[in-house]
Amino acid sequence: MNHFLAMTDLDTPKLQALLNRVAAFKSGRDETQFRGKTLALLFEKPSLRTRTSFEVAIRRLGGHSIYYGPQEIGLGQRESVRDVVLVLSRFVDAIAARTFVHSTVTEMARYATIPIVNALTDLEHPCQAVADLQTLAERQGGVAGKNVAYIGDGNNCAISLLYGCALLGAHYRIASPEGYELPAEVTERAWVLCAASGGSLTLLRDPLQAAAGADALYTDVWTSMGQEAERAERVRVFADYQINQAALRAAKPGATILHPLPAHHGEEIAEGILYLDQSAVFDQAENRLWAQMAVLATLFEDRQA
Ligand code: CP
Ligand code: NVA
Repeated sequence: MNHFLAMTDLDTPKLQALLNRVAAFKSGRDETQFRGKTLALLFEKPSLRTRTSFEVAIRRLGGHSIYYGPQEIGLGQRESVRDVVLVLSRFVDAIAARTFVHSTVTEMARYATIPIVNALTDLEHPCQAVADLQTLAERQGGVAGKNVAYIGDGNNCAISLLYGCALLGAHYRIASPEGYELPAEVTERAWVLCAASGGSLTLLRDPLQAAAGADALYTDVWTSMGQEAERAERVRVFADYQINQAALRAAKPGATILHPLPAHHGEEIAEGILYLDQSAVFDQAENRLWAQMAVLATLFEDRQA
């Protein structure tokens, strides 16, 4: 793995190996060190979990981080993307980038001589999906064959989770309002992966139909970062797309509740749901740390190989 820009950078064995590594770091079985490695964090958008988990991860691996916030980067404005990564490639050992458009991270990867990690773009949030799958495996005893219901926007988190489920043979059902479905090129790619893994993808409109019999219920914000101008319209369109008591009743008893956070209580998730015993969202947040360690370790080792 040269870079980690999208879940489709992985095939099924590579994703399984990555998840094994996540579990190994979490249990303390893997104590691999990458002393002196430096990670640059280039963030065009705010972050709590992604920034913190990367900074703690590189520190635990024996290295350190440098954070550039939205005001400092000026990516493509103060300086071209190409020049920024050519310069950073001389100073640091990897870049984790959170950008508005996905093409920015693919452009970074084209010019960088160090690994680029997607720390969230408008298209994918692959590091989140690795933590999601780890959490699902912990709570459900595995991912293959599980029914995962995604309620809401066909956004970056929905896409990365779908690819992960498709690679691992899970059954992914998504209910989205008209106009907010997964992109057609994503579903076409996912169906190919499902055919090989034994997984499936079902596209629905009705959230309760998606939730019916689910092992896990997943949702994300109605309005993602960068879409703030659409908020009023999205609040109207997504009003029924919520994990609530009705969705819990439709799902299997004790179905695992997942959310990447930050959550908008009373919007995509009803008040109080996040704190139920069946909610794994804070394990999911913690697993971001072990996932980032596994991603960075894999990238550093693959570069050395
Ligand atoms: N889930 C997630 O990526 O959270 P942050 O935006 O806080 O990093
Ligand atoms: N879909 C959300 C995820 C935040 C972690 C966003 O892009 O803002």
